[in-house]
Amino acid sequence: MIEYIAHPENIDKSLKRSIGPTGLILLGLGSIIGAGIFIVTGVTAANYSGPALLISFIISAVACTFTALCYAEFASMIPIAGSVYTYTYVTLGEIWAWMIGWVLIFEYLISASAVAVGWSSYTVGLLGSAGINLPAYLTGSMAVGGFINLPAVVIIGLLTGVLILGAKESTRINTAIVIANIAVIIIFIVVGMKFINPTNYTPFTPFTPFGIAGVFQGAAMVFFAYICFDAVSTAAEETKDPQKNLPKGISGSLIISSILYIVVAGVLTGMVPYYLLNNGAPVAFALKYVGSSWIASIVSIGALCGITSVLLTSLFGQTRIFFAMSRDGLLPGIFSRVHSTYKSPLTSIILVGTVAALIAAFIPLALIIELVNIGTLSAFIFLAISVIVLRRSQPDIPRGFKCPLVPIIPLISIISCLFLITQLSSTTLQRFAISLIIGVSVYFLYGMRKSKLNNSEGDDLNGVNLIATDTLIETELE
Ligand code: ALA
Repeated sequence: MIEYIAHPENIDKSLKRSIGPTGLILLGLGSIIGAGIFIVTGVTAANYSGPALLISFIISAVACTFTALCYAEFASMIPIAGSVYTYTYVTLGEIWAWMIGWVLIFEYLISASAVAVGWSSYTVGLLGSAGINLPAYLTGSMAVGGFINLPAVVIIGLLTGVLILGAKESTRINTAIVIANIAVIIIFIVVGMKFINPTNYTPFTPFTPFGIAGVFQGAAMVFFAYICFDAVSTAAEETKDPQKNLPKGISGSLIISSILYIVVAGVLTGMVPYYLLNNGAPVAFALKYVGSSWIASIVSIGALCGITSVLLTSLFGQTRIFFAMSRDGLLPGIFSRVHSTYKSPLTSIILVGTVAALIAAFIPLALIIELVNIGTLSAFIFLAISVIVLRRSQPDIPRGFKCPLVPIIPLISIISCLFLITQLSSTTLQRFAISLIIGVSVYFLYGMRKSKLNNSEGDDLNGVNLIATDTLIETELE
């Protein structure tokens, strides 16, 4: 998703403003549809929503819609990776920018781990169908009865290598992946509908052991399936008539993915009793459960394409956040150094790949997803606050797209994200609070002393960041 902007070719394209609404919708779908629908659905149905999984998807879609409108306004001002970080820097100041950078790490780094665990589940299932059975201790963390999730480590290693070599996903590949993804989802829906057994919908919420509360908790979990819609807004500068087309791209990709997700959720929970869905490859599992093993294999291959693409872009996105923070002096300069041969930020990529692989290897999926969601939801809250602040402090900055009804829509976005955060488990909230404390400590021990802002004289906030932004683009162009 983000490389689409950062890549020099695309910066050229931005001058041409070549992307129309269809291109934006495809871009969004390529980044949104991946692990969430193919993985998180199962864990969520089994542990939170039960057969009301589709209602959780609807609730989450509503929260994302308000946030997406705020995102579009930011993106139309400056369409580069880490734009939320950069604009928080301008609007709320350095410490808040640091915190948003810190929580964005959850969106990209930790989601890469979650996606890799899902990739592993589908790969293990496919290998199993081909008669190759990997031992359990190599295919899961200790929490799920294994020791290490080796396939997840291997795929992160491979994609880290791809990123080091500077490979980028092209628009054409993105389109092919989107088509493959949607095709397998439709195959799943058409085949699965024939096997819906109405008794699987009973007991329906609120009569499941999780009650209504479970549906809201489920909404906070499946939020994962929608994230990365920010990819659409980061293409603002390349978009023809962004004022009209950005909202179309964002709403189009969100509406299409929401409809697909809601239907898949309905079919999935109709095919299999929800309590059996607690596994990392629920869509393939459901097809095997009803006896369609070879269709399960086809769907798994399509799913793997989409999941791989989301994984690559998550890893890439994280390296760009490090890049932006390092450029501003908040992280050591080594993270923004571009390797002379590969022209990629080698240290960032290796660090990101290593940490993502370690998390994927040893931490169970549900826990990783909760952490991703709380980080992303917090980043969205900062974003909505920044939209309100920047409208007041910098009303004259040109905005290709303006979020309607400010401050009402940003406030609704803040409230819905806060609500979803409260639905996550208290252990996740505690873990996140600890990570914020670590984040603030690192800022005071390192970032504050080294920051370019604090060591510069006479630059106002705006100047510092616009220069920093130019530097990023120039470095990308080198
Ligand atoms: N929304 C992305 C996915 O579901 C993260 O894979």
